Amino acid sequence: MPRTEIAPTTIVERLVSFACLAPSVHNTQPWRWRYDAGLLTLRADLDRRLPAEDPRGRNLTISCGAALHHLQLAARALGWETDVRRLPPGADETVLADVRVHRDAPAPVVPSDLALLRTRCTDRRRFTDWPVPRYRLEDLCREAAPWGVHAAAIVDDGARFRLELLANQALTDLELDAGRQAEQDRWIGRTGADGIPASLLPGDPDPLRARSRFRPGLLEDTRMVLHGGERVIALGGAHDDVAGWLRTGEALSALWLEATRAGLSVVPMSQPIEVETTRREIGRSVLGGAFEPHVLLRVGWQAIGRSGLPRTPRRPLADVLEA
Ligand SMILES: Cc1cc2nc3c(=O)[nH]c(=O)nc-3n(C[C@H](O)[C@H](O)[C@H](O)COP(=O)(O)O)c2cc1C
Repeated sequence: MPRTEIAPTTIVERLVSFACLAPSVHNTQPWRWRYDAGLLTLRADLDRRLPAEDPRGRNLTISCGAALHHLQLAARALGWETDVRRLPPGADETVLADVRVHRDAPAPVVPSDLALLRTRCTDRRRFTDWPVPRYRLEDLCREAAPWGVHAAAIVDDGARFRLELLANQALTDLELDAGRQAEQDRWIGRTGADGIPASLLPGDPDPLRARSRFRPGLLEDTRMVLHGGERVIALGGAHDDVAGWLRTGEALSALWLEATRAGLSVVPMSQPIEVETTRREIGRSVLGGAFEPHVLLRVGWQAIGRSGLPRTPRRPLADVLEA
């Protein structure tokens, strides 16, 4: 019988470093990890919740789910196995999962998966008009199934049109909400170890305008929230609850990493989901009631040869891991 080896602290530190490369809403990195007696615990850091934009903690939990998936992938890539218990019974409500990292024998390392974790990023520059082929979208949607998560690509013109309307409506609602605007101001344009630096946010929404033949006139323009070739994938579940959000986060990470592998760019679009009336309407009229939407993802191609982006910062390991 092979003897099971429990991961030493040094390995767990590496795994948590990889987990912290996961995407998170406003780069809040709302997770805390603790390693004790062979068991790694993932907690939601409620001090990092966004009370105005995310009062129920949906985006916070999805972010933690993405980190949980990153951890599982990193463990596998480094030759370790993980036993994950989601929302372990008896634990307090901040505990989202516990993970035992172990192995029976040393296994090969998969450097390409580790590279993928380091490469994935949110690139908010405008996508090209190249359409994303339907088979690519279907491949990406399939990534959600092992996590018990529903995924639907919104390809039908009518559904896309309705989504565009609802997304515009949600943007207007948010612009009129001083509390949400103030919360954005706190996390956007930051220079520290969390939040989103200004260097990663688009500047003039339409740089071509500067080179336009005419100076600006009076004709009212209609802002587009979705552009040319990009497509939207909705992820969600049977219920709009913590258990579903955690799994959606895992599926989001799996899908995003697969998109990165295929050269596609992914940018979440939270606003239509944050406004409860538009979230419900998307479920009803865009997804035909098939499932409760938890997150929307814009998927498209970035222009070839574009410069790389600076990495969004991360908090030091000592701030998020107690071992
Ligand atoms: C649940 C969730 C919601 C997000 N919502 C948005 C969004 O609405 N708009 C956006 O540009 N980025 C969004 N993001 C991306 C984060 O801002 C991004 O992951 C974070 O800044 C870290 O940067 P990175 O992905 O490049 O590592 C979201 C990410 C998550 C996990």
